[in-house]
Formats: sequence, structure tokens, C-alpha cells
Amino acid sequence: MPDFDVIILGAGAAGMMAGIEAGKRGRKVLVVDHARDPGEKIRISGGGRCNFTNVNATHTAGRDRFLSNNPRFALSALSRYTPDMFIERVRKQGIAFHEKTLGQLFCDGPATQIVSMLTNDLRAAGAAIWTGRQVGSIEKTDDGFDVMVGDGRVTTSSLVVATGGKSIPKMGATGLAYDIARQFGLTVTDTRPALVPLTFEPGALELLKPLAGVSTNAIVRHGKTGFEEALLFTHRGLSGPSILQISSYWREGDAITVDLLPGQDALDMLREARKATPRLHVQTVLSERLPKRLAQLLGDIIDMPGMIGDFSDRKLMAVAEQVQRWTLKPVGSEGYRTAEVTLGGIDTTGLDAKTMMARSVPGLFFVGEAVDVTGWLGGYNFQWAWASGWSAGQAA
Ligand code: FDA
Repeated sequence: MPDFDVIILGAGAAGMMAGIEAGKRGRKVLVVDHARDPGEKIRISGGGRCNFTNVNATHTAGRDRFLSNNPRFALSALSRYTPDMFIERVRKQGIAFHEKTLGQLFCDGPATQIVSMLTNDLRAAGAAIWTGRQVGSIEKTDDGFDVMVGDGRVTTSSLVVATGGKSIPKMGATGLAYDIARQFGLTVTDTRPALVPLTFEPGALELLKPLAGVSTNAIVRHGKTGFEEALLFTHRGLSGPSILQISSYWREGDAITVDLLPGQDALDMLREARKATPRLHVQTVLSERLPKRLAQLLGDIIDMPGMIGDFSDRKLMAVAEQVQRWTLKPVGSEGYRTAEVTLGGIDTTGLDAKTMMARSVPGLFFVGEAVDVTGWLGGYNFQWAWASGWSAGQAA
């Protein structure tokens, strides 16, 4: 008889959810993590308020809002475990929350409330939680798996790998899930940091540096994909939700374009200004609509001195182009050091979408960020973690 029915590697969002569900089914569960405390990323998420789901993270929106080599893969789990089901859990627990924007639900109080809810539910489901333990070699046996945990061996019928992606190694992120997947013959797609600030070469950075700390609403585009949200200038480059979102689509060598007046027609606005305030400089006109330092920089880039009343239509078009299609070429990103998630991961072709079990290795499951499913910013990644963990918890 194995020591446990289910061993879960990783006491993060997906692992705890899988453990709770398997435990509720009467399975003897062990959750192992090398960190001292469970749910560390939940604790720091959403600026300490945990954006625990997004009301739009349903399977109907899944193909748009989750990136994967197979965008249909996530739909099954997302339809079986919906945002409403997690919201119900949070409500029952008496955790107060609010919708911030774009369907994003945040706790009113500290994110640790979500961690406590999950660890309490885990214990109530009878699961053992071993933290501060290293995971060593894993071997397949006739009736399951043999796992080295700390100095001892434990055996289990099912093994759920929920050790996340590579983002924020300082918090204990490792590539363990990918190593285990490869060990058992599964394919791992290329991985890269996502939901991450973008950086610039020194020349371009010199130009942007005076704007460090400035934030403005903008549409940031890469190809046909665009996000309208805050754009933040930093000492290293660009950040803010619109940049984090586009970073999941951007690739080295590509440019992004920035529309600093979303929903407006800059040319119309400039023509109006030419009529109404012909003696103003273009920089002054822009500073009435944009943060002053930003308007100043745009004025410097445009380099068209004189009063707007003297500007030809062609000149106004050039200004409008600069304001609504500002083209910037990042050189890279801040990398896994600050990335909220890892794009790519365990190839979904090797996994069953309903249970998250490896098709070729009965009893071996992969859930959460480790899998090649990456959500948009705004609660989508936790919803994926809850849904995939829940799905494995029904089957492991
Ligand atoms: P997760 O990373 O949560 O858990 C993996 C666990 O495995 C960890 O406890 C880790 O210690 C353990 N582990 C790793 N390697 C191991 C090893 N070798 N041995 C043993 N244990 C090991 N998403 C969202 O929807 N809303 C939000 O507000 C935020 N905010 C946010 C802020 C910041 C700063 C970050 C970095 C990320 C977010 N995210 C987010 C993303 C979200 O945190 C992420 O998608 C989920 O935590 C993924 O859940 P998992 O359970 O898959 O991995």
C-alpha cells in the first residue's frame, strides 16, 4: 500500500486547490513545498490584496484571454470550475472584496485571508502539509510513484505537480515541473517571462528617463493586439498594466505602438486647438491633455517650434501620428526577476484537458502555471490555477 493516495508537489494556488478537492473525496493527501510557508505568491499578489479571479475568466472568453499553443485546452477546466464557484467560497468565508476594474476582483483586506482560507480548507479535508522540504528524485513504481522528500522516501498512487513556473526565483520558483515532465517523456514548450516590464537600450532610455514616475492612460499595441490601461514610465523602461499585458505578445526585435489619447481623434483635437488657441505652442496644447513632462518630451521629439496657428494640416498630422502611434522598440524585459508569470510550459497535447493527467503516464498530473496556459493580467492566472487544480483534484 502506498503511503498516500495523492502527493501534491507545490503548495501554491493550484496545488492547494487540488489537495482540498482530493481530500474532500476521501483521498489521503500530502502537499509538499520547499518554501517555509504555503501560498507565498498569493500573499504578495495584487499588491497584497490578491486579485483572486476575474468575472470574465469564463470558458467563453478563454480562447482570447488565455495564451497557449492550444488556446482551446483551458476551456474544459474553466467551464467546470468557474469564477462564480471561487467567489462563492470567498463569500462563505466572509472575506470582503470589490471589483476594481475590468472584472478584476480584489480582497478589501490582506491577501493572507485567501491563503488562510485555503490552508484551513486543506486541513479540514484531512491533508498533510509538509513545508520547508526539498523534493528529490521521483520514480515510477508498479502502483504509483516513489518520491524523495527531504531525507525520506514516500510513496503515492497519484502525483500532482503544481510547482508553478520560473517567475520570481527569489521567492522559490524553480523549473522542477518542467524537469519532471521531461523525465516522463512529456514535451515542454519554450518558456519566457510574461506580464513583465519592458526595457530599452541606453539611448532610448536616456530619452524616457526624465519621465520616470509618470503614468497615463494609453492603448499599447503589438500587431493586432492592444490593451487600454495605465502606462507607467520607470527608470528601466515601461511598465503599468498596458505594458505588462502586451509583454505576453511582444517578441525581441518587435516594436510596440502607443496611443496616448485613447478614444480621441488627435488630428481633430489639434485642428480645434489651431482654431481656438492659435497662439499656443503645440507642447502647451498637448500638456492640457497629457501629463506635463510627457507633453514636453513629445514636443522635443516632434521638434516643431512656433505657434499652432501657423501649422499646416501636414504638420498637424505628423503631431497626431506621434501622439497616437508613438512607435517604441523595447530591447528586452526585466525577465523572470519581476515577471508575474511564465509564458509556455508543459505542452497541453500530452495532457487530458478534463483531468490534467498526463496521457502517457496514468496517475501523473500537471496543474497551474507549469502548464502551457497563461492568462491575461487581472485575476485570470489565479482562475486558471483554481480551475486546473480543482479538475485534477476530482481525478487524482
Ligand atoms: P505558484 O507559484 O503559486 O506555486 C508553486 C509552489 O511550488 C510554490 O509554493 C513554490 O514554493 C513551490 N515550488 C516551486 N519549486 C519547488 C521545488 N523545486 N520543490 C518544492 N516546491 C517547489 N495572478 C492573478 O491572477 N492575480 C494577481 O493578483 C496576481 N498577482 C501576482 C503578483 C506577483 C508579484 C506575481 C509574481 C504573480 C502574480 N499573479 C497573479 C500570478 C499568480 O501568482 C500565479 O499565476 C499563480 O500563483 C500560479 O499558481 P501555481 O499554484 O501554479 O504556482
